[in-house]
Amino acid sequence: MPRRYLVCEPDHFDVRYAINPWMSQDAPVDTGLARRQWEGLVRAYREHGHTVETVRPEPDLPDMVFAANAALVVEGRVFGSYFHAPQRRPESVAYETWFKAAGYDVYRPESVCEGEGDLVAAGRFILAGTGFRTTPEAHREAQEFFGVPVIGLQLVDPYFYHLDTALFALDDTNIAYYPGAFSAGSREVLERLYPLAVIATREDAMAFGLNSVSDGRHVFVAPQAAGLMDQLADRGYVPVPVDLSEFHKAGGGIKCCTQEIRS
Ligand code: ARG
Repeated sequence: MPRRYLVCEPDHFDVRYAINPWMSQDAPVDTGLARRQWEGLVRAYREHGHTVETVRPEPDLPDMVFAANAALVVEGRVFGSYFHAPQRRPESVAYETWFKAAGYDVYRPESVCEGEGDLVAAGRFILAGTGFRTTPEAHREAQEFFGVPVIGLQLVDPYFYHLDTALFALDDTNIAYYPGAFSAGSREVLERLYPLAVIATREDAMAFGLNSVSDGRHVFVAPQAAGLMDQLADRGYVPVPVDLSEFHKAGGGIKCCTQEIRS
């Protein structure tokens, strides 16, 4: 099934503040390389039949390239964002403007919520992370808004500050995740819901392997997560390596750069 993705060109992408453990001024971003890597992602999506649309990047919003954080869209309903970090708050309006021009109403959450960064649409459920950014109050708002059961999951490791750094949906019935990113109770929830999940190592998670995008068959995945790529292939998925190493310096990868518009 072809997917519709919204992305933001990395014109102003940089690391200019530190709001997660990956961000440090000591490792400057190679902006030329970042641009080429990002174009490689868009090319990979298009080569696999997906539609890619872009939102105009704004100066002074160096993290705006991380389109996933702006919203969660399910069945054409747009649940917008309210960022934890004041530096990122203006991004919500920029994306809201794009959605409105595209014909969508946008719900503005009252509590901190970072879109698909913490809300993962997974078939019958929405899996929802909390602990560093998105709040349990926002989980309740999302459940009320979508009418879909929202499963709250507690993140415990600051390197995996967004749910989409620790887990992704392979299709409507299965996921891949790194158990060490979750509290004991949340691990048990995931084991009950997904006994057949792909379990990733810490090494593959630290390589942003779980910040992947799956169309149900192809998995756009960081090539640094070699073990995970093998596991996916063993399960019948087709790993499509896309290297976004420059974006890892900001704590982001493939999924962070991608907003899926589910109609
Ligand atoms: N620097 C950004 C932040 O810390 C990275 C966001 C990554 N996005 C994601 N969906 N995990 O907010």
